[in-house]
Amino acid sequence: THIDWDIDMAEKGGYPDFMLKEIHEQPRVVRDTLVGRMVGGELDIDELGLTYEELNLIDRVYVIACGTSYHAGLIAKNLIEMWARIPCEVEAASEFRYRNPIITPSTLVVAVSQSGETADTLAAIRDARIKGAKVFGITNVVGSPVARESDGVIYTKANKEIAVASTKSFIGQVVSLTLLSLLLAQVKGKLTTGQVRMLFRELGDTAEQIQWIFDTQAEAVHEAALACKDAHSALFVGRGMGAAIAHEGALKLKEISYLHAEAYAAGEMKHGPIALIDPGFPVIAVTTKSPTYDKTVSNLKECEARGAKIIVVATEGDEDIKQIADHVIYIPPVRDAFCPITATVPLQLLAREVAIMRDCDVDQPRNLAKSVTVE
Ligand code: G6P
Repeated sequence: THIDWDIDMAEKGGYPDFMLKEIHEQPRVVRDTLVGRMVGGELDIDELGLTYEELNLIDRVYVIACGTSYHAGLIAKNLIEMWARIPCEVEAASEFRYRNPIITPSTLVVAVSQSGETADTLAAIRDARIKGAKVFGITNVVGSPVARESDGVIYTKANKEIAVASTKSFIGQVVSLTLLSLLLAQVKGKLTTGQVRMLFRELGDTAEQIQWIFDTQAEAVHEAALACKDAHSALFVGRGMGAAIAHEGALKLKEISYLHAEAYAAGEMKHGPIALIDPGFPVIAVTTKSPTYDKTVSNLKECEARGAKIIVVATEGDEDIKQIADHVIYIPPVRDAFCPITATVPLQLLAREVAIMRDCDVDQPRNLAKSVTVE
């Protein structure tokens, strides 16, 4: 009835589905996750549970997570190694818990979990603590098992996420992991407080940059979705941060549109996936300005020569990319370290549009659960 429709729309804040509502909350999530984190010019993570002396002793980091949270981990690995120069591995919790990883008292295990109750993630941190690791949680749910069973925690401030496929929580996780990476770098003396302050400011700018994508790129996303909707399969590629973003883009697309998608580091394409490419095959690439931009573009030329339909997420102002891309979605210029926070957004929107064009329920995809509390 009319009344039901009104209630439904009210819950969704006027959006047709929770996924779109939650995607549009992301600028707010960035801001809220950063509130109170810079106090008197110093990075402040008071609920750390570890002293700076303890942090300074950390010589190995494992990021443990599942699903979308695992992809936030891929980004954290890049940041922690780049800024703090601490070796960092990212591992699916379901793998980590069943092998015998090298853990010492100077190992930091970072558990990333939106729900804070994923069975494998929880089992992995319990085990890691018994083996003597320090455990740090990144979660969206206050008082959740992951929060309770970690030495310290950062809350992602996404607020309740209803759509099964995670969007705003992911952005909250990436921002939180960025803060943790900056803190580790500062404690280790690899970045000065001045550098940290500057990076923190730029990190905050991503909120407006996401809004710019909503305001200017809707039509470009729609066109790109039309180009994908009838495909049987799609390939997402990128390098470095772009590869991590590609993984999240492919996951979103397959979760909600049931279109097979896989992600590859662009440089690895010639070792397998290029065999898939025939005329019309969609290749979705993250080709933002980064030190490996030219390399990714030359990978795309190989796809173009085989007739692929090329969709790119590129940096605003990059006109050259139009020579090889059939569809370009722009994001504002941003430091490579912060690129995932913005470049993931068009891929979330793309997945949602494709899913809607294919008549799928974007909020409740078949066979998937919001949190997986049993093994
Ligand atoms: C399920 C959800 C995903 C989520 C994953 C990990 O598969 O459908 O959206 O990324 O669990 O959940 P967590 O709560 O641990 O982040």
